[in-house]
This record gives sequence, C-alpha cells and structure tokens, in this order.
Amino acid sequence: MESTRIGFIGAGNMANSLIRGLLAKGVNNTSISAADIDSHKLEQLRRACKIHTSTSTEIVANCDVIVLAVKPQVMKAVCLDLAKALQGRKVLLISIAAGITLEHMQNWFGPESAIVRCMPNTPALVGKGATGLFANSQVNQAQRKLAADILSSVGLSLWVPNETDIDSVTALSGSGPAYFFLFMEAMQAAAQEMGLHQELARKLTYQTALGAAELAMRSEEDTADLRRNVTSPGGTTEQAIKQFTDGGLQKLVSKALHAARKRSVELASEFGKD
Ligand SMILES: NC(=O)c1ccc[n+]([C@@H]2O[C@H](COP(=O)([O-])OP(=O)(O)OC[C@H]3O[C@@H](n4cnc5c(N)ncnc54)[C@H](OP(=O)(O)O)[C@@H]3O)[C@@H](O)[C@H]2O)c1
Repeated sequence: MESTRIGFIGAGNMANSLIRGLLAKGVNNTSISAADIDSHKLEQLRRACKIHTSTSTEIVANCDVIVLAVKPQVMKAVCLDLAKALQGRKVLLISIAAGITLEHMQNWFGPESAIVRCMPNTPALVGKGATGLFANSQVNQAQRKLAADILSSVGLSLWVPNETDIDSVTALSGSGPAYFFLFMEAMQAAAQEMGLHQELARKLTYQTALGAAELAMRSEEDTADLRRNVTSPGGTTEQAIKQFTDGGLQKLVSKALHAARKRSVELASEFGKD
C-alpha cells in the first residue's frame, strides 16, 4: 500500500475515520489526498491529518485508488463528473455509499471500470468497524488486497460471495450499531427505574456490552453456549431470558433485520434512478 496514491472524494465522517485509520497503520500522509465541496471541512482535515487537500480533478489525475465517500443522494452526479475527468484512465474505485449498486456505477463509469462496493459501519470512527466488501469482475487480486487493506485500517473487513449479500450486511452490521444502542438505552432506562443513578447505569451498561462482545470474540464457544453458561437454573438471568423469549425477541430481531434488508434493496432502486 506504501506507494499507492489514495484519493477521497468527500471528506466527511467516514472519510475522516478511514484516513485516520490509514495513517495509524503507517501509510504516509503524502500518499493521501481528499476533496470536498465543503472547504471548511477539508481545511480541518488537512490541519488534523497533514494530508494533501485537493480538487476532484487533481485526485482523478494523480491517484491510483479513489474512495467515493459522499452521500448516496449525490453519488450519481459525482460519479458522472469523475467519469468525464477520468477519460478511461484505469484506477480502482471504492464506493462506501449505501444503496449504490455496481450496476449503477458501471453505468456511470463504464463497464471496464474496476469497482469495489463496501458497507462499513460507524464504529469505524473508533477503529472498530465491520465492513462487507464485494468486487466486480474487473478488480484484480492486487486491487482486492488493496481495498481490503484500506477498509481493514478501521476494523474488520470481509468479502461477501454475492453483491446481494451487501443488503444483508447493511441490515446486520451497517445498521447493527443502532440496534445495540437501542438495547443499551432500554437497559439503562430499566436500571434507572429500579433506582440506579443515571451515570452508574450508563457506565455499567456500556462496560457490560463491551465485555460481552469481547468475551464472545475471544471465546471458542458460540453465543448460545456463552448465554447458557451464565443462565443457572432457578437464577436471575433465567428469569430475564424467559421474559425475552416469551416476548418473542428472536422473532422480533429477525423481523427487524428483514425490514432493514428490504429497505436497503428499495433505496438501491431509488438512488440509482436515471
Ligand atoms: N456514516 C456511516 O455510518 C456510514 C456507514 C456506512 C456507509 N456510509 C456511507 O458513507 C458515505 C459517506 O457518509 P458520511 O457519513 O461520511 O457522510 P458525510 O459526513 O456527509 O460526508 C460526505 C461529504 O461529502 C461532501 N460532498 C457532497 N457532495 C460532494 C461533491 N460533489 N464532491 C465532493 N464532496 C462532496 C459533503 O459535503 P456537504 O456536507 O457540504 O454536502 C460531506 O462533507 C455515504 O454514502 C454513506 O452511505 C456511512
């Protein structure tokens, strides 16, 4: 990755975390450039990360990899502009935009373009992201490695076998942090109802979530076993788990993820419209 010149179109939240992740991994700041229509945001990024701030035209002319980090709503206009400037120059395009399919991007950039589509999530901001990636057939092995290296700088990155899996990744890890936040919110509220001080409830909830995730990551047992291990017959956990299962938690979670997946498919057709 050392000699690769990486350009970001859009210097918002996700670009910021990816750039910081790359720098933390030892990528030279002179290899990274970014462009954004918001000059204030761009200047802040330049000061904080000492990277080269630039224009889309310069990025197109100088970079080997272009990360498309703008909102899905503006992707079409941004891609059409970049395609015009690229004039067929071969680069690796990496899109992190939700709901923009490879077919959309191939229509805008041309069928010969090498494109990786990914779905990261917000914990990328703290280096704990989870990203699913899918490449079109124009992407070679070296480019696949490059894309995975870039996304791995902010957490876990995994290739999915089919592009449609990206919709499931969106429903699982893309939107997933919000599900955990909701659950944590509910736990804190219940703890406060039982008389615990707000700050105490918050700290204990966060640490419990972190500890459970860390334990699951490190353990050779799956989460069902880990749950059973802490659920003694006649104990307190058993009482709580019974409330969750009687209330249909598993079915509700399944329904929620299916609804998110369906919305991801719908958004793809809305954003890609001509
Ligand atoms: N944040 C997440 O959790 C998350 C998770 C997964 C995927 N994603 C995807 O990541 C992408 C970026 O999200 P984000 O949260 O980083 O968005 P963001 O913070 O809004 O950053 C996007 C930046 O692009 C700028 N921009 C708009 N049009 C542009 C143009 N023509 N040329 C250059 N820059 C332009 C925006 O400026 P203005 O603000 O002035 O418009 C903004 O500074 C989105 O497509 C999103 O779907 C985000």
